[in-house]
Amino acid sequence: MGRNLRRFLRTLREDVQAVIDRDPAARSRVEVVLTTPGLHAIWMHRVAHALFSNRVPILPRLVSHVARFLTGIEIHPGARIGRGFFIDHGMGVVIGETAEIGNNVTLYQGVTLGIYHTSNVTQLRGTKRHPTLRDGVTVTVGAKILGAITVGEHAIVGAGSVVTKDVPPHTTVVGVPGRVVVERDPTTGLARRVDRASPWSVDLPDPVLEVIRCLHEKVLELDARISVLDGGADSKELVREIGDLRDQVSRLVGISDGSSEVGRS
Ligand SMILES: CC(C)(COP(=O)(O)OP(=O)(O)OC[C@H]1O[C@@H](n2cnc3c(N)ncnc32)[C@H](O)[C@@H]1OP(=O)(O)O)[C@@H](O)C(=O)NCCC(=O)NCCS
Repeated sequence: MGRNLRRFLRTLREDVQAVIDRDPAARSRVEVVLTTPGLHAIWMHRVAHALFSNRVPILPRLVSHVARFLTGIEIHPGARIGRGFFIDHGMGVVIGETAEIGNNVTLYQGVTLGIYHTSNVTQLRGTKRHPTLRDGVTVTVGAKILGAITVGEHAIVGAGSVVTKDVPPHTTVVGVPGRVVVERDPTTGLARRVDRASPWSVDLPDPVLEVIRCLHEKVLELDARISVLDGGADSKELVREIGDLRDQVSRLVGISDGSSEVGRS
C-alpha cells in the first residue's frame, strides 16, 4: 500500500475518532460512519481537495456540489482542512475557497467562514479572502467569521457571533461584533473574565451601544432646553414625552451594559 494511501486512511480514521471524542451522542464507530453528515462532508471534501490540488477541472466542484446536496454542508474544494476535523449537525455550514483550518477544529451548524467585502468581488479572485482557524478552535452554532482574519489556537467563538477581526488564542469571543469575554491560561486552563474597560473592548467598540449613548445625551440636552421654555401647555406635553423617551433610553443603556436585571434574564 502506498504511503499516500496509508496517510489518507489514517486521516479518515482520525475524522471518525473526532466524532467519537466530541459528540456525546455518538455510540459506535459503525453508527458514526453511517449517520454523521459532518463526516460524509469532510470525507467528500478530502477527495474534492485532492482533485482540486491536482488541477482536475470541474470534477472537484461536482463532488462538493453532491456533498452539499447530501449533507447541507458547502465546502469549497480549495479550502485547506487539517486532521481531526468535526462538523456537528452540519446543516448550513459554508466554508470558502481560501479558508484554512488547522487540526482538531470543531464547527457547529450554521457556521460561515466567508468573505467580508461583497462589492467588486471579482477583484478578490486569487487572493486570500477567507478566515484561518488555528488548531483546536471551536466555532459554535450560527457564528459568522468574515474576511482573511486569524482565529488563534483553542479560541471559542460563541453562538451567533459575527467576527471580523483577529481573535487571540485561548479566548472566547461573543457578540456582534465579536469581542473577547474570556481568556484562558494555556497551561492551567484557568479562565478569566475580560472586563469591558480592557484594551480589547476599546479595540472592538459596540456600535449599538454607541448609538444608544448618543441618543441618551441628545434627550438630556433637549430635556434641559425644554425646561428653560417651561410654561405653555404644548411645552408641558413635550416635557412629558421627552421624559418618557429618556426613561426608555435609560432602560436600553442598562440592558446593553448588561447592568439591568432584564438584560441578564
Ligand atoms: C461561548 C460558549 C461556548 C461559552 O464559552 P465560555 O468560554 O464558557 O464563556 P462563558 O460561558 O463564561 O460566557 C462569558 C460571557 O459571555 C456571555 N456569552 C456566552 N455566549 C454568548 C453568546 N453566544 N452570545 C452573547 N453572549 C454570550 C455569557 O453570558 C457570559 O456573560 P456574563 O459574564 O455577563 O455572564 C457558549 O456560550 C456558546 O455560545 N455555546 C453555543 C454551543 C453550541 O453551539 N451549541 C449548539 C450545539 S447543537
